[in-house]
Amino acid sequence: MLALRTVTFAKIPSDEAGPAIRELMRRGFVDLHAKIGKDDAFRYVPILPEFLGSEPVKGMELVTGEAHTLDRRSPQERIAEALSGHPGLAEIAPKRWEYVGDIVILRLDEGCLPYKREIGRIYADVLGAKTVCADVKGVSGEFRRPSMEVLYGTETEAVRLENGIRYRFDVTKVMFASGNTDERMRMRRLDCSGETVVDMFAGIGYFTLPLARFSGARRVFACEKNPESYRFLVENARDNGVEDVVVPILGDNRDLPGRAFADRILMGYVQTTSEFLPAALRMIRPGGVIHYHDTFYVGERDARIKGIFDAACGDGGYEIESIREVKSFAPSVSHYVADVRIRPSRRSCSR
Ligand SMILES: C[S@@+](CC[C@H](N)C(=O)[O-])C[C@H]1O[C@@H](n2cnc3c(N)ncnc32)[C@H](O)[C@@H]1O
Repeated sequence: MLALRTVTFAKIPSDEAGPAIRELMRRGFVDLHAKIGKDDAFRYVPILPEFLGSEPVKGMELVTGEAHTLDRRSPQERIAEALSGHPGLAEIAPKRWEYVGDIVILRLDEGCLPYKREIGRIYADVLGAKTVCADVKGVSGEFRRPSMEVLYGTETEAVRLENGIRYRFDVTKVMFASGNTDERMRMRRLDCSGETVVDMFAGIGYFTLPLARFSGARRVFACEKNPESYRFLVENARDNGVEDVVVPILGDNRDLPGRAFADRILMGYVQTTSEFLPAALRMIRPGGVIHYHDTFYVGERDARIKGIFDAACGDGGYEIESIREVKSFAPSVSHYVADVRIRPSRRSCSR
């Protein structure tokens, strides 16, 4: 935040400014809340009033003028000051927030609710956001819809830039799991040269886009059931220049046609993922890999994944190549992804 203030500057020729400014800084004479000015020939260094009579300042040419001042307080400090009219509110107001482009998302303590519009306005002002939303109760339902309340502003579409990908979406309609960043990065780093990939839960292109853009995949069939997410998936494939690789499909992934054609299948969904495994096993070719996501109690993950794949394709019909934690999900529960290679010997699965 910039404002103007009258200060006294030491006017120093540009060609000698470097060492002179370093010396003034070293001695603590420079007003760090005011900006150093410059023109073609001089630097204008704001000096704290108490040092105007000290060496070497008093030997320098001094001029008075307006300086842009820098508010060096943290956003949290500025928010606390703006909320100070309501006793106790600053203590319970959010100290952290999430940016999605120029939209800010907050989680509000119940005590903040009577002041939510004012909070929205203040956070927008201090953080320079066009819109401020409150995440009311996370995501829910088959489409993992967020429940967001707009506190300030009207525009709810934003672009999130991550690892060279532009994700456009509406924060009030579509989820975005910030905690899955590492997994999105891993998809970007895979070597899928020439592969046919199926993303069964494509959303707005969370995994599809980095994989299509960077992994060398020949084709990514990206299936999404929610029309609102599908619209962004199509736009994002175009905006990221991968519309020749990505084939967006609107519908239920269990209705995808075809047998044994996919080199790799992404199952980026949790909690009911195993219900979709028969469709994945029908589409995967012998030797292909399934990235199977699900949530498990921390100590149970290996046995649970083995149990799920034993039941679906028989003991020995697959090999678990790795299991990674994507993020913590709830106390003692984590979201995991298992990379499972399907062996040619597996017994065939029912549809
Ligand atoms: C939101 S994503 C999960 C998170 C995502 N993997 C990430 O990294 O953030 C899951 C998507 O699967 C979609 N979906 C749910 N059931 C589906 C189905 N049977 N067929 C196709 N898409 C489905 C949801 O609409 C949602 O967009």
